[in-house]
Amino acid sequence: MRNEGRPASEVLAELDERQQRDPDVHGARLFGLVYPTGREDIESLIRGVYDRYLFSNALNPLKFTALATIEREVLTATSQLVHRTATEVHAGSMTSGGTESILMSMLVNRERARAKGIKRPQILAPASAHPAYAKAAHYFDMDYVRVPLDEGYRADVGAARSLLTSETCVIVASAYSYPHGIIDPVSELAALALEHGCGCHVDACIGGFVLPFMEQLGRAVPPWDFRVAGVTEISMDLHKYGYVPKGASVILHRDDDWLWHQTFFYDQWGSGLYATPAIAGARSAAPTVAAWAVMEYLGEAGYRAIVRGLCETSDRVKAGIGDIEGLEIVGSPIGPLIALRSDRVDLYAVADVMDERGWHLNRNIDPYGLHLMLSPVHHETVDELLTDLAHAVKHHGVSKGRAARYS
Ligand SMILES: Cc1ncc(COP(=O)(O)O)c(C=O)c1O
Repeated sequence: MRNEGRPASEVLAELDERQQRDPDVHGARLFGLVYPTGREDIESLIRGVYDRYLFSNALNPLKFTALATIEREVLTATSQLVHRTATEVHAGSMTSGGTESILMSMLVNRERARAKGIKRPQILAPASAHPAYAKAAHYFDMDYVRVPLDEGYRADVGAARSLLTSETCVIVASAYSYPHGIIDPVSELAALALEHGCGCHVDACIGGFVLPFMEQLGRAVPPWDFRVAGVTEISMDLHKYGYVPKGASVILHRDDDWLWHQTFFYDQWGSGLYATPAIAGARSAAPTVAAWAVMEYLGEAGYRAIVRGLCETSDRVKAGIGDIEGLEIVGSPIGPLIALRSDRVDLYAVADVMDERGWHLNRNIDPYGLHLMLSPVHHETVDELLTDLAHAVKHHGVSKGRAARYS
């Protein structure tokens, strides 16, 4: 740290300069990591929330009871969206993001298994599942078993059945998956879990605020939420397609008392009872309040309108890609996440050309290809994207060897 401080204007000017070296989070050239709506009304509402809750702390709900009510209302609203019918709203908690929601769910599934005498519980997850499940196995001393995918890039249910053991404590299904945007056969996997007597976690971290509204709009969405018998947990991120700043996700349990397996209580120190429902201790309330505010502001009708636009954009992108010779969409992605493959062109070389033109397409390794996660703002750049992609497919050199990486 400097000895003497600097004027705020100078500090902010330096930040502006540094930020320019990173991709523009509002621009429509970045695919994933951020989920811009292009809506100033939503962003100004969120700024209003952050002004009010800048120095908040959601650690102690007994002290900040109004804040605790807001948090419960977020859990109620999200529970309703995924048709959770149990009466007790406490069967879920807010977390900092999809990873923490998944960690909490795996912990609860481990504790349920241990109560049954299972010594080293196993997570059975599709090969396309998010790394957070492997992370949970690593943190919580569990085994991690990968289920191969079928030719449609969905978890292979037959393979899942053959991999079940007496130690399997949870079967994972993605609705939908990050690598390919494909929804796993949730009903079959949940039925398997029910038959086996274990949990079934549906990862709706990306799909949770897309699929319910697609269904409401009359699009074909296979069953995936708590209406499916056997689904025990659902994770869904507000900080992705809920359009809230980072730090907001929910983990929901089907049964009321399962939350207590993830809640930590301690009173063997000088300051009495300490309890937290998830990993964090002190945490900002701003993302939770922003989630409440955006849901209040948009209502289901507002989210439906956004998802309608998003679906139109992804239909245009899918159709445009279909017109580019040499490109193929991987499987049948249900929503606005598209993976590309090719047996004719080196798609990493294509991505190099796209990089030069200011796009940030992600590279996939399996299948080798590209990955596009669309946000509402992409409606502004669909035509330019498709034109540049067609150009890059025709005119590219040798791949510069940039590796695929998510983080
Ligand atoms: C399907 C899926 N699950 C879980 C996560 C983890 O979410 P987070 O990065 O918020 O921890 C992601 C992140 O992209 C995801 O795509």
